[in-house]
Amino acid sequence: MKKRNVLIDCDPGVDDVMALLLALANRDRLNILGVTTVSGNQTLAKVTKNLRKLWTFLKLEIPAACGAAKPLIKDPLHGGEIHGVSGMDGWEFPAPVFQLESDNGIVFLKEKIMEAEGRVTLIPTGPLTNIGLLFSVFPETKERIEMISLMGGSIFSGNRTPFAEFNIYADPEAAKIVFDSGVPITMSGLEVTNKAAINDEEIKELMSSEGSVSRMAGSLLQSYTNFHRRKGLTTYPLHDVVSVMYLLNPEMFKGEDYRVEIDTSIGIYRGRTAADTGELMRHEPPNAHVLMDVDRDEFMGVFFEALKRLDESVNSE
Ligand code: RIB
Ligand code: CA
Repeated sequence: MKKRNVLIDCDPGVDDVMALLLALANRDRLNILGVTTVSGNQTLAKVTKNLRKLWTFLKLEIPAACGAAKPLIKDPLHGGEIHGVSGMDGWEFPAPVFQLESDNGIVFLKEKIMEAEGRVTLIPTGPLTNIGLLFSVFPETKERIEMISLMGGSIFSGNRTPFAEFNIYADPEAAKIVFDSGVPITMSGLEVTNKAAINDEEIKELMSSEGSVSRMAGSLLQSYTNFHRRKGLTTYPLHDVVSVMYLLNPEMFKGEDYRVEIDTSIGIYRGRTAADTGELMRHEPPNAHVLMDVDRDEFMGVFFEALKRLDESVNSE
């Protein structure tokens, strides 16, 4: 079966790491052309160092580059209260030895897309600043993109404000460029990602695993639970993993085609992904397939299997 060309744009971030691990465990199906970083969960410097530390730990040479250090218009927003001061608290990684291919992530993305044999799928798991810039500076890339499977947005709630999810809220202007681009989008918003949540027992099992990748993932996730526990939660959403899992197992999900518009106002609704969900309202054709439900147990089973495969491949080297 032909592999799917993918580029991952992320802000690692604990759940970004879990998404990267799932993709890395499925390189028989995903041809990972490269990874870019963007300011989000932590500063660009920190999330880029985190990617380099992860690549060093996993002994990887997949090309990577750093992208935007701030959103298009507003000041950067970060999520240190969730992902820690480093942006990837909970595990002692080796000093980063892996070197970036470029410090211009937008040109890096453009070159990987234009050089690829066949079309490319983008997997953004952070604010959409890099993708918005890519489409603005190099619009010719759009026709080379098969689809965008992104984590972001929410139809009926928010996690950074009552109405907006963090990745969109961090850079609504960039998100508007992406959602108005005409490129096919599958949106993994909070309706589905909050259901893709790991529990304490599963984390403890990972932490006691013999495999170093599973132990690392469990330790990062244990640290990630602190914020959620303080909010009274007892399960912990693997938000970004959904955007990769959908590409591997679309049948695991239920979704709807909606017209999604990004609120770029500076008021209370800033960053909202407003969806035309009413039959009577349909003025505009849909621009996104919005995932709304997932078989959680099946999702976790596939995720744990992926970690086991990485345990074997990393430990066997
Ligand atoms: O709202 C969840 C999203 O914000 C995830 O991508 C998480 O990593 C943070 O970036
Ligand atoms: Ca993220």
